[in-house]
Amino acid sequence: MQKLKIRGGKALNGSVRISGAKNAALPIIAASLLSREPLALKNVPQLNDIGTMVRLLAQMGVQAKRDGEALTLTAAEITEKVAPYDLVKTMRASILVLGPLVARFGEAKVSLPGGCAIGARPVDLHIKGLEAMGAEIHIEGGYILARAKRLKGCKILSATVTVTGTENLMMAACLAEGTTILENAAREPEVVDLAKCLIAMGARISGHGTDRITIQGVDSLHAADYTVMPDRIETGTFLAAVAATGGDVTLSNAAPDTLDAVIDRLRESGAEITCTPDTIRIKAVMRPAPISLKTAPYPAFPTDMQAQFIALNCIASGTSVVTETIFENRFMHVQELLRLGARINIEGNTAIVHGVEQLTGATVMATDLRASACLVIAGLVAKGETIVDRIYHLDRGYDHIEAKLTSLGADIERVN
Ligand code: UD1
Repeated sequence: MQKLKIRGGKALNGSVRISGAKNAALPIIAASLLSREPLALKNVPQLNDIGTMVRLLAQMGVQAKRDGEALTLTAAEITEKVAPYDLVKTMRASILVLGPLVARFGEAKVSLPGGCAIGARPVDLHIKGLEAMGAEIHIEGGYILARAKRLKGCKILSATVTVTGTENLMMAACLAEGTTILENAAREPEVVDLAKCLIAMGARISGHGTDRITIQGVDSLHAADYTVMPDRIETGTFLAAVAATGGDVTLSNAAPDTLDAVIDRLRESGAEITCTPDTIRIKAVMRPAPISLKTAPYPAFPTDMQAQFIALNCIASGTSVVTETIFENRFMHVQELLRLGARINIEGNTAIVHGVEQLTGATVMATDLRASACLVIAGLVAKGETIVDRIYHLDRGYDHIEAKLTSLGADIERVN
């Protein structure tokens, strides 16, 4: 199993290019199932999760042609409308094929994802929404079996804001008969990116980016070219790393307007941040001030940045309070940070972090994607050597992370 060996204590300096957004690319790849014509994508990140999604579609009969960050998908003939357990268990986002398959073919068999390291994560709202549109759904042998003649547009009020739930229903509604209105929809930039791609394919969508999305169904979608948005979580992770280690870094191909909550908090920590429409420069010279925060749906502070900010708070000049409101079990990184000398108490869904002057290197184990990023940041500031084990989590969501960090002056290498 591969590990990262990090010798901490070096400031980060230079510039790095941000990759395309994993969480936008995944639903956009699934959207190719909605049309028999090619979808030509650019800025697709090179990640294991993207490989898994492409493999899933290829098993169904989709033709996929990959050339670096370009990916063309043609779903002309679909032989299998199945997402098998083996693939779904490695990547929950596989559930995103459910809406497109039912909408275009009137049938789908998708494995139920089950629990995961950060919480229960049910998909009941995806299912309820499709049922409201007329799909008949049964659970059998661990699979969601869905059937419909043609989905019918309707009004769907989601009890909770769900990102992939909104994406699944928005995709399904594109080919439904009549108008669908999604109330309490997710406003995440990745939902907006998917909507823009669907519009390029001929969908009729309005209100994306608000909590009320309206979709007028059409008979078919057509070929399109689309460039995936920059990854705001990769961007935020690099920003948090520089705020922790100190230094002066410029991130290019970024989308600062999708990161207001993160940038505001980093400024509170003492970092100097300047933005153009597609670059962000961060200068950090002093020990960060503690940053208290609470995660919530966009535009509030993202749960996918919580772990990285806990790493930053570990070496801050005081005490911070971090509350997680989206997932019930998303503090797995805390036990590992304690091994590096952090002082953190957990009370329910809140972590109280007492900043210490120095972390010291140790072997730690990554438990999920963003927890891995948190441990890498902690390793970059810790004195001595830190080994981060189980980095396959990291490879699911960070494009060439050690190469990018090395180019900024970090002492980090991949070992077996
Ligand atoms: C997406 C992101 C993930 C991010 C999360 C929250 C992708 C591929 N993944 O995950 O990185 O951490 O949004 O920003 O885009 N819920 C239900 N029933 C449902 C669906 C969700 O109760 O049917 C609950 C979840 O358990 C959770 C909350 O709603 O407590 C939000 O989850 P959701 O937005 O659906 O997360 P994902 O879309 O899985």
